[in-house]
Amino acid sequence: MIQLYHIELRYDGGIRALRDVSLAVDRGEFVFLTGSSGAGKTSLLRLLFAAERPTAGQLLVAGRNISRIKAAQIPRLRREIGVIFQDFKLLMDRTVHENVAVPLEIAGASRRETRTRVWSTLKRLGLGHRLDHRPRALSGGEQQRVAIARALVTDPPLLLADEPTGNLDPELARDIMDIIADANARGTTVIVATHDPSLLARYRHRLLELSEGRLVRDALPRGLASREVVGQF
Ligand SMILES: Nc1ncnc2c1ncn2[C@@H]1O[C@H](COP(=O)(O)OP(=O)(O)O)[C@@H](O)[C@H]1O
Ligand SMILES: [Mg+2]
Repeated sequence: MIQLYHIELRYDGGIRALRDVSLAVDRGEFVFLTGSSGAGKTSLLRLLFAAERPTAGQLLVAGRNISRIKAAQIPRLRREIGVIFQDFKLLMDRTVHENVAVPLEIAGASRRETRTRVWSTLKRLGLGHRLDHRPRALSGGEQQRVAIARALVTDPPLLLADEPTGNLDPELARDIMDIIADANARGTTVIVATHDPSLLARYRHRLLELSEGRLVRDALPRGLASREVVGQF
């Protein structure tokens, strides 16, 4: 699903956010991406949906070469990727239903399909009674679930979540992780960026760790079959 070969990302001003990162993520995997603040987690996720271009190296996502992707091909790529940011970026003047419908409208789904999918996704996330509310009327946890519904409504092959539990209390964080695990069980490849050690301790998944832009660890939790460490290409 994802392959990085010697990826470097250097921002204007000279900061190298990613240095010689090589890794692969298979279809259906659930991967944590960790590292302290400034390590490069968000930069890596942004590369995966072509919000940034690498300054060196090659990057394949869902069979597409992101290093060379044309602007006109980016919308189709993004249709296959659900993205959850820490700040939810909901449209505050639209209803919950309208917010969650946005990716389907962009994808050109019919009005009927949109209504069915939005409804079933919101119901699955416990928001069936919130369809016509505006985000402002919802709690922080509910707003985050709306953002997740928006990311999952298209059943994307790939889900990228950037600190999805960052501002939430532990109980809500557990709900969010359950929802993401459920998407993974339905076949979505998942990458969750987090620097929250309690999350890493509670859930046992493959762990990629960045430090100052370098990949310094690629580990499976004890008890799972070990995997060949990718890094030499
Ligand atoms: N748009 C940008 N322009 C310049 N530097 C940036 C930009 N975004 C992030 N950085 C820098 O890149 C490094 C990695 O940042 P980031 O990917 O946000 O790390 P993390 O998500 O792990 O906290 C940091 O030094 C950060 O200051
Ligand atoms: Mg970040």
